[in-house]
Amino acid sequence: MPDMPAAEAVSCRLHGEVLLVTIANPPVNALSANVRRGLLAAIDAAEANPDVRAVLITGAGRNFIAGSDIREFGQPPQPPSLPDVCSRIEACGKPVAAAIHGAALGGGLEVALAAHYRLAAAGARLGLPEVLLGLMPGAGGTQRATRLIGAAAALDLMLSGRHVDAAEAHALGLVDRLVDPSESSGDIQEQGLAYVRQLLSAQAPVRRTRDAAGLADRQAGRAAIAAARAATGKKSRGLFSPPKILEAVEAALDLPFDDALRLERKLFLQCMDSPQRAGLIHAFFAEREVLKTPAIHHQTRNANTTLRAIGSVGVVGGGTMGAGIAAAVLDAGLPVTMIERDAAALARGRAHIETIYDGLIAKGRLSADGKAAVMARFSGSLAYDALAQADLVIEAVFEDMAVKQAVFAQLDRVCKPGAVLATNTSYLDIDAIAAGVSRPADVLGLHFFSPANIMKLLEIVTPAKVAADVLTTAFEFARKLGKTPVRAGVCDGFIGNRIFAAYRQAADRMMEDGASPYRIDDAMRGFGFPMGPFQVADLAGGDIGWAARKRRAATRNLQARQTRYVQIADRLCERGWFGQKTGRGYYAYPDGARSGAPSEEVEAIIAAERRRAGIVPRSFSDEEIVRRCLAAMINEGANVVHQGVALRPLDVDVVFLYGYGFPRYRGGPMKYADTLGLPRVLADIGEFGREDPLFWRPSPLLTGLVGRGANFASLNSRSG
Ligand code: COA
Repeated sequence: MPDMPAAEAVSCRLHGEVLLVTIANPPVNALSANVRRGLLAAIDAAEANPDVRAVLITGAGRNFIAGSDIREFGQPPQPPSLPDVCSRIEACGKPVAAAIHGAALGGGLEVALAAHYRLAAAGARLGLPEVLLGLMPGAGGTQRATRLIGAAAALDLMLSGRHVDAAEAHALGLVDRLVDPSESSGDIQEQGLAYVRQLLSAQAPVRRTRDAAGLADRQAGRAAIAAARAATGKKSRGLFSPPKILEAVEAALDLPFDDALRLERKLFLQCMDSPQRAGLIHAFFAEREVLKTPAIHHQTRNANTTLRAIGSVGVVGGGTMGAGIAAAVLDAGLPVTMIERDAAALARGRAHIETIYDGLIAKGRLSADGKAAVMARFSGSLAYDALAQADLVIEAVFEDMAVKQAVFAQLDRVCKPGAVLATNTSYLDIDAIAAGVSRPADVLGLHFFSPANIMKLLEIVTPAKVAADVLTTAFEFARKLGKTPVRAGVCDGFIGNRIFAAYRQAADRMMEDGASPYRIDDAMRGFGFPMGPFQVADLAGGDIGWAARKRRAATRNLQARQTRYVQIADRLCERGWFGQKTGRGYYAYPDGARSGAPSEEVEAIIAAERRRAGIVPRSFSDEEIVRRCLAAMINEGANVVHQGVALRPLDVDVVFLYGYGFPRYRGGPMKYADTLGLPRVLADIGEFGREDPLFWRPSPLLTGLVGRGANFASLNSRSG
């Protein structure tokens, strides 16, 4: 069998009458320029060679094709374009089949759709997830998918970005044939070749997706578009690409195929040029980059990064956090032993966990047997000795240094050598906690976010003496829990809560200066946060922050003459208004309501505080509210990076995307700052600083970057 000429990354080999075209572009066979060139050349070669009767396209390694090469986005385009490649495949005068295993996503599925026949192996994942990157299918996907599986199913795939498995793809009509499971041990190329030989012997014709009949029922198509448009208006608030997807599908009904393809391309390029695309792709790479953090952490760079095995976990404390953490660990298949101080507290802890699973049962997402299986891994004890064999213990007791140190003294006494000892503190000094035990190298922070079994973010807080393998083990543990881990240094509030505190201070100052908390929340929702800062305060509960403020009161009074301190939150807390859980906070929650109503009493308290502080209220536009809140976040983010609390700006971004509801399409606060331009952010801080220079002190990192004409992105690739 002679080898055919082929470009790098795409190889062609003749198997009898079938030209096998294999894409090998590690790690995921993305459609880089050389792959596109290779595919085009392969189809040309197949067409020109009289010995070839059919073509089979497959991927080497674990995937068919994961999509366009995301790293090429934003670079000058290199020919051939993917639409041209897909059109060439579809136009081929000899039957072309695609044999799909692993991922066939985005442009990868578009290549498969341009082929004439499709076979999928068990374990294949198909989808058009471009919307998750601020894009839409741009190589015929909006047209071919719609013609193949109808407007409703195609819109569902394109607007949700979800992956479907082989069986669902088959049921939808996205693929023609599934690999027989009894033969699934065979390799995908063999399966594909067998399939193409069957097609040839059945004299299967060239069958172009552009001619498929999925839109025959035009009324159903229009109804699907109208329904999707109505749903999208609610679900994809602020997103740029979903309306473009709808427009392209509408064109599939109204325009000839080639005209619709041209429109699709035009809309695709508009998405490509949008800042949302840049923000979402930044998020895609940032969330992968944080996973690699231990390798570039200064403490582990040259160290032996062996892992400590985590086969069993202890959780101290059965409150909301402890129970949520226990559920997250149970969900990862690990056994959990919970410690509480008395039988009633332990029973409450267990009940908290059961409530989580009962909620899943009520939603039909878990069976009673499933819950029983999970709870069989759970045990509780009143004696710390039950933790003697635990590989990892996570302390989640009351946020008080003395209480936590007492817990750690017990852990030091009972835990086996080598056990990892973690605290879930949100603010406290973990170096001080570690200093209290005989094995500080085993101590670190695992800061979960509430609800801990749902929120993806896990700050891995690294005290000075932590051992390298403990840190690496913590990252591996996070991965096992399905969490997104971000390394953070020890400071008050670590990365997230520290920056959030600066955001809150900016919001508090505006509230005292004249903006109502409801207006501020509204403006921040308009920016894309699901909740404004005062809604967050009500949800989180005002009591913890109040306790921290009282703790710091002594030092604050020393600085009081210079530092502005807004007392409105204290006035609410003094009334016992801690937010949702007490039925009152900034908002009123009558009869246990979950969404709050603005309160005139709160407005009156604010007005009284303004008078007390001698402030003449002024008005703030939504734009100014957003500008001040973001400037505070960005400036504190810069401080956090400057002081090494966060490794890079992208770590700050991931914390805000995963823990604080920062709109993903804006990429995170530091990416957003780059989008605005750092000189503009610095100018804003200078302007705000004229009235309050102590709060609005530009971060040295920000000033330095502006001086060098650099941006935050320039710090993302540094190696620690
Ligand atoms: N273009 C360029 N690089 C890509 C890529 C793409 N389309 N898809 C994945 N990669 C890279 C990742 O950045 C990662 O690189 P790294 O090792 O340097 O960090 C590597 O491939 C492996 O990806 P990862 O996500 O860690 O592997 P996985 O096995 O968990 O998942 C996929 C594989 C394909 C399911 C997943 O990467 C994915 O969903 N990719 C995006 C698919 C997509 O959106 N396609 C449409 C593009 S328009």
